[in-house]
Amino acid sequence: MSIKIKYRRSALILFSFIATIVGLCRCMDHAKKPATEADAPTLAPAPVFADYTSSDKCVSCHKDIYDNYIHTAHSLTAAPATEKYIKGSFKKGQNTYSYTPSILLSMEKRDSGFYQVVYFKGEEKKAMKFDIVIGSGVMGQSYLNWRGNRLYQLPITYFTAAGQWSNSPGFPHERVLIDRPVTSRCLECHATYAQGTSGTALEPVEFDRSKIILGVDCQKCHGPAAKHVEYQEQHPEDKTAKYIVNPAKLSRIQQLDVCALCHSGNIQKTKPSFQFAAGQALSDYFITDTSGSAVLNGANIDVHGNQYALLRASKCFKMSTTLTCNTCHDTHKNERGQLELLSQRCMTCHDPAAAEFKTPTHTSVATLQKNCIDCHMPAQPSKSIAVFLQGQETPKASSLRSHFIAIYPEEAKKFLNK
Ligand code: HEC
Ligand code: HEC
Ligand code: HEC
Ligand code: HEC
Ligand code: HEC
Ligand code: HEC
Ligand code: HEC
Repeated sequence: MSIKIKYRRSALILFSFIATIVGLCRCMDHAKKPATEADAPTLAPAPVFADYTSSDKCVSCHKDIYDNYIHTAHSLTAAPATEKYIKGSFKKGQNTYSYTPSILLSMEKRDSGFYQVVYFKGEEKKAMKFDIVIGSGVMGQSYLNWRGNRLYQLPITYFTAAGQWSNSPGFPHERVLIDRPVTSRCLECHATYAQGTSGTALEPVEFDRSKIILGVDCQKCHGPAAKHVEYQEQHPEDKTAKYIVNPAKLSRIQQLDVCALCHSGNIQKTKPSFQFAAGQALSDYFITDTSGSAVLNGANIDVHGNQYALLRASKCFKMSTTLTCNTCHDTHKNERGQLELLSQRCMTCHDPAAAEFKTPTHTSVATLQKNCIDCHMPAQPSKSIAVFLQGQETPKASSLRSHFIAIYPEEAKKFLNK
């Protein structure tokens, strides 16, 4: 994405979906509703903090996977706010954002950590600590601040495409909003577990700070693993796995559910999200779209965050019985940008040697097998991640790969004219 920032006070509204998510998290507590006898047996006991371990425990027996995994966006999607993880600059000249000529916010490194400091006419008014980083920084990062056991989103966000600090999504442009609370929703998709202590079971507002596992770790896709580690450590002679879920052994829908938990946009909870574990049915925890993709045609689903619905609307998905996210993605590795490798995964089903594959467009591309992606999964502007540059009337949108795999004649033309 090429965005030229012309003004210091450019109002960048990115990830506005975050605001929508916060707004849409209604605090209904269906969890307290008595379960009917029919649906009760399908639910496994909800995992608690003690069922989890730390993912660095896996390294002793699964070294290759672990060493690759720590470089993935999942692993890095939430972290303590240290120098290693914060992407933005604290250098003079690059560390400020001015709201009005008299209101300035400055990012500062102090002895006790990193702060967003509000100044009014040059006088310090409030310093708020960066405590948790949300986002690996592929697109950007938002920051959370602890006050007691509550979390607040800080007013300034880092926007990677512009390489600079910007106003947090949905925040006002002319004054500093310092008290936007963050309930459990951000953590549900950017962390593996968080223990709520107040609010409703469905939407905790306070947390036990010692019982949070940041990042999407091994256990989000494999289930809590404390018992697996304990067992395998005590029985080194046993080469069969106990007390752990391998998604490869689950049904297609169960495999998809593991990813759909966080990649189907703003689905509505009916039970606490942290009670869901790999192997269970997502529809027991969320109102998922069980009517299939009848209403979806790829054009009316935003590319942001809803890869699942887009994929389901695609012919590849509908006409095959095996396609899941894992057909193309090896989530243990960071394969971002490796279009040739990803194209090879298309060819596990599509045979470029087959007669029907030699279409007019295909035969005119010499390096066809290197890149199926740009023509059939083009990067498209998100309707919800839009960036407003000051002085411009129309927002600039962030681009994401469409998971609606289809024929895009215009994209093919662009590709051929490159
Ligand atoms: C003391 C050794 C040990 C530790 C520590 C360990 N595992 Fe395992 N794990 C095994 C063995 C042995 C197997 C079975 C052989 C294999 O698949 O590699 C296994 C298999 C697995 C499988 C595949 C299960 C299957 O049914 O195919 C997963 C997933 C897994 N482990 C995840 C983890 C995670 C996550 C951690 C860290 C939280 C972890 N393991 C820590 C020994 C260990
Ligand atoms: C329903 C799951 C979900 C919720 C809730 C959610 N996110 Fe995300 N977030 C995602 C996914 C998935 C992505 C990856 C981008 C994509 O697919 O659109 C993402 C991307 C991001 C990014 C960009 C990371 C990068 O790639 O650099 C930031 C920053 C972010 N989210 C912050 C937040 C904050 C702050 C909240 C809470 C207010 C939040 N998100 C709530 C799922 C979620
Ligand atoms: C985003 C989800 C996700 C995360 C995070 C994740 N895995 Fe996996 N893992 C999978 C899937 C999906 C499979 C099955 C792949 C397939 O279809 O063969 C798998 C398979 C495995 C297996 C079986 C052997 C193999 O290589 O396929 C082991 C062992 C394993 N994972 C360990 C780990 C460990 C250890 C971590 C953390 C360091 C981890 N996984 C993180 C999704 C994940
Ligand atoms: C607990 C929520 C959660 C689950 C479960 C989850 N993801 Fe993600 N995923 C995210 C978030 C959040 C991001 C954005 C990470 C970032 O850049 O900060 C992401 C990013 C990704 C990316 C982009 C990686 C990159 O390098 O930019 C892929 C691909 C992906 N997820 C695939 C999967 C697949 C496949 C599964 C299921 C096996 C899965 N995810 C399960 C939350 C989740
Ligand atoms: C699991 C198997 C599988 C994988 C992997 C797969 N596809 Fe498909 N794809 C199919 C099937 C089945 C069809 C329907 C074929 C038909 O119409 O006869 C299809 C149809 C298509 C179509 C025609 C779509 C339309 O709307 O007419 C395109 C284009 C396509 N695939 C491209 C891709 C690309 C690009 C990839 C990799 C990013 C890919 N496919 C990966 C199975 C797969
Ligand atoms: C047919 C192959 C295929 C399937 C199936 C597939 N993806 Fe992807 N996905 C891709 C390709 C190709 C990219 C682009 C990679 C890149 O540009 O680095 C991608 C990118 C992504 C990204 C990063 C989005 C962005 O543009 O930054 C996420 C998140 C993601 N996939 C999640 C998923 C999830 C979740 C599923 C299952 C619902 C899924 N994918 C199924 C091929 C696939
Ligand atoms: C230059 C853009 C471009 C590239 C690169 C490309 N395609 Fe296509 N593809 C098209 C167009 C356009 C069509 C519609 C037929 C035509 O106009 O030739 C098509 C048709 C298809 C179809 C439906 C026709 C059929 O074969 O049944 C499939 C499947 C497909 N492509 C898969 C792929 C795969 C897999 C790759 C990578 C190996 C790929 N395409 C590379 C543009 C492209």
